[in-house]
Amino acid sequence: MVSGMSQSHPRITKAVIPAAGLGTRFLPATKATPKEMLPVVDKPAIQYVVEEAVSAGLDDVLMVTGRNKRPLEDHFDRNYELESALQKKGDADRLAKVQQSSDLATMHYVRQGDPRGLGHAVLCAAPHVGDEPFAVLLGDDLIDPRDLLLQRMIDVQQQYGGSVIALMEVAPEQIHLYGAAAVECTADSDVVKVSGLVEKPDVEDAPSNYAIIGRYVLDPAVFGILRTTEPGRGGEIQLTDALQQLVDTHTPSAAAEGKDGGPVHGVVFKGRRYDTGDRGDYLRAIVRLACEREDLGPDFRTWLRRYVTEEMQQP
Ligand code: UTP
Repeated sequence: MVSGMSQSHPRITKAVIPAAGLGTRFLPATKATPKEMLPVVDKPAIQYVVEEAVSAGLDDVLMVTGRNKRPLEDHFDRNYELESALQKKGDADRLAKVQQSSDLATMHYVRQGDPRGLGHAVLCAAPHVGDEPFAVLLGDDLIDPRDLLLQRMIDVQQQYGGSVIALMEVAPEQIHLYGAAAVECTADSDVVKVSGLVEKPDVEDAPSNYAIIGRYVLDPAVFGILRTTEPGRGGEIQLTDALQQLVDTHTPSAAAEGKDGGPVHGVVFKGRRYDTGDRGDYLRAIVRLACEREDLGPDFRTWLRRYVTEEMQQP
């Protein structure tokens, strides 16, 4: 516990999942289907993300959707025709799988008219979220269900107040693919104080190798900032730019009076994470998760071992 932090912070109950991006890295698969619906083994990527929110105690889920939103809404809705067909066949296992996704959480949807960037997608959540801190989980970012990141971020937010981002150390040549954070140590070995942020920096401009990954716990003050955030890198309204402004405007005395959004901290994540919007990472996620499955793993691993051995024998 940090000394001097005696304030109690409002409980976090809502999760926002932006899933309105164009998914251009995955064309043509994403021409008519959101990339968040691509299967990772036998579940769409987005279901892992909703399950993660629910297991961190957030069962009020707002999904920000764009064009092609139908498959996302349908996946978390009942499918009576399919359910009755499975019931007639007496296929209880598959029936349970079909019902699981519609019973998971209280789902809400909001439409982002144009994909004007992640910051704009988050701003679309303002009327639903109101004046409470909330979590944001990127719909194409998969955190291994055994590595508890979001719960830790919520605990850190309850301890320090303000906002909390997720950071992961990456190789210097990878940092230009992410937002990067300048950080200072805290008393908690996995928590850093964020003193600056920059979206997709060149390696020589990066303040550190700490890359921002797709989980956030945000103070609602971010909405006020996003309303006036100009388009930044790539012509998009960047959440990173709004977070930078939260960092810039924060002072302990203003925060104590509730006049700013509080500090920004980072939780350093060392677990398994896949960007399912990237084709290479998507393939790695499938292979790894399939290998670890009790039902598919043994056969798949045997095949994979043989395949790799044969590959290594190629000249
Ligand atoms: P990405 O940065 O991966 O962008 O978005 P993208 O457009 O979806 O994909 P590419 O780069 O063209 O392949 C990160 C997350 O933010 C959401 C995406 O759906 C994804 O979950 N997002 C992005 C929105 O909801 N709206 C936007 O305007 C942009």
